[in-house]
Amino acid sequence: TSLPPVIAIDGPSASGKGTLAAIVAKTLGWHQLDSGMLYRLSALAVLKKNIQSDNEAEIAKVARNLNVCFVGQQVLLDNDDVSDVLRTEEVGALASRIAAYPLLRQALFERQLAFRKAPGLVADGRDMGTVIFPDAKLKIFLIADVNERAQRRYKQLIEKGISANLVSLLDDLKARDERDMHRSHAPLVPAKDAIIIDSSTLSIEESVAKVLAYWSAVNA
Ligand code: CDP
Ligand code: CDP
Repeated sequence: TSLPPVIAIDGPSASGKGTLAAIVAKTLGWHQLDSGMLYRLSALAVLKKNIQSDNEAEIAKVARNLNVCFVGQQVLLDNDDVSDVLRTEEVGALASRIAAYPLLRQALFERQLAFRKAPGLVADGRDMGTVIFPDAKLKIFLIADVNERAQRRYKQLIEKGISANLVSLLDDLKARDERDMHRSHAPLVPAKDAIIIDSSTLSIEESVAKVLAYWSAVNA
């Protein structure tokens, strides 16, 4: 009995992983895992419970006991709709800080594996192809110029009615990239067998078409 196939999409913040993963999953009729959301939810729970950001053991415990519920497009944490606050850069920054803790990564490990169900899974994050699903059939490492990524994130937030500042977004993205790439546990690096796609000048449709073409090639 072989496990359902996985397409792993990793890359830096705002490179378009989530958008790409959602469309590819929908096109193939597969499940989707937004692993960053689990780190963001953990960060939000840490903020709400007033836990010190250096208390690794307590943070891991909170993550293990997350009370999350997905209702359509909404994410509920302890029955509160946190869909918008979850996407803020404040939560993203804390997520990236606590994501360096091995105990937290371990606490979220099984929860991520559980998303792997037939007929397949498209998973996006930082370590999908390296740590969580090393046997993924297709591994994409999605990059884009940091200025382009800041513009995309800015536009995304403004469209949602969330206030944002382009200059501080750019600074935050750079700081987060640094932390994500240089931590010792599950750093942001392409898997050896990953295909690197630079989406700087690609439309969403073009990125999707590339991934679907690679997927067809895997099965040819
Ligand atoms: O959407 P964006 O790329 O900005 O961030 P995210 O994917 O929601 O992830 C938020 C933070 O969680 C990242 O900066 C990472 O530090 C962390 N993360 C991780 O360590 N491993 C993952 N597989 C996914 C996210
Ligand atoms: O998940 P990640 O943080 O990597 O990025 P995202 O939230 O999927 O995408 C950030 C924003 O970039 C979204 O508003 C997308 O619509 C936009 N975008 C994209 O994903 N791909 C492009 N080629 C152009 C724009």
